[in-house]
Amino acid sequence: MQDVAIIGAGQMGAGITQYLAMNNINVTLIDYKESNIKRASGAIRNSLNRLLSKEKISELDLVGIQDRIHYSTALSSCSEMDLVIEAIPEEIEKKEQLLIELNGILNEHTIVATNTSSLSITKLGTLFKDPTRVIGLHFFNPAVIMPLVEIIRGLETSKETVDKVTSFIGNINKEPVFVQDRSGFIVNRILIPMINEAFFVLQDGIATAEEIDKAMKLGSNQPMGPLELADFIGLDTCLSIMETLHINFGEDKYRPAPLLRKYVEANRLGRKTKKGIYTY
Ligand SMILES: NC(=O)c1ccc[n+]([C@@H]2O[C@H](COP(=O)([O-])OP(=O)(O)OC[C@H]3O[C@@H](n4cnc5c(N)ncnc54)[C@H](O)[C@@H]3O)[C@@H](O)[C@H]2O)c1
Repeated sequence: MQDVAIIGAGQMGAGITQYLAMNNINVTLIDYKESNIKRASGAIRNSLNRLLSKEKISELDLVGIQDRIHYSTALSSCSEMDLVIEAIPEEIEKKEQLLIELNGILNEHTIVATNTSSLSITKLGTLFKDPTRVIGLHFFNPAVIMPLVEIIRGLETSKETVDKVTSFIGNINKEPVFVQDRSGFIVNRILIPMINEAFFVLQDGIATAEEIDKAMKLGSNQPMGPLELADFIGLDTCLSIMETLHINFGEDKYRPAPLLRKYVEANRLGRKTKKGIYTY
């Protein structure tokens, strides 16, 4: 798989694009908002310049990486790709609508991967003309650095599709884990309820945000505190994942913290809106 399209030029889409281009893949990054394409191309340029100044890549590498990245606002640009990875927001209606649109665009061999953090791969697969070619490929944030990719097989995903993406993940030097199609997969099923609990601790006035983050960093050896991490992931994404876990497992332990919901209502989404738990 040499030609890949990423749909959604947000934090994940931009990061995956940069990482793939750094690993010799031709990537087309697609977003329906020109402004978000500009933001993503600026973020990629800045990140590459930082790597250059630290001598992690050469001038020649930088030119090659940038040459392998193409930007587009037209969904039709992904028609001839080997692999399409969608990284649009964690909202089921938006993702379903996108899969329906892709039916009329993609050829008969393109594999469709979703970077969803919690939604059902099987359900998304039913919207595509060939569910055997739909799979979950869950990259982590920041995609340029985090080594893990969860590979999630939907009920109808074929072995051929699993084999192709597994060898692709190996070729780009990421570490795969294979997970059943259950909400949150491995990492978010464990991580996001922990973040949600940190919002309950804050809401109950048990400690300040700084104290909660300091306690978890120094007391459980985590590199970032849970609230700092929530700002990094995006509070809207955290809330969507908690809601999906709550609906799908039907257990009270997954109920979203009211304070998390309140922050999302206030558009305090974290780093991406420059204000979340902390101000940036
Ligand atoms: N943020 C994280 O830490 C993280 C980590 C792993 C996985 N994910 C998952 O990755 C996905 C994207 O998350 P994000 O944080 O990058 O989101 P984001 O909000 O930063 O970016 C989403 C982008 O998608 C674009 N978009 C929306 N609908 C579109 C459409 N129909 N066609 C083209 N572009 C469209 C938006 O304009 C936006 O630029 C979600 O499913 C999320 O759960 C996020």
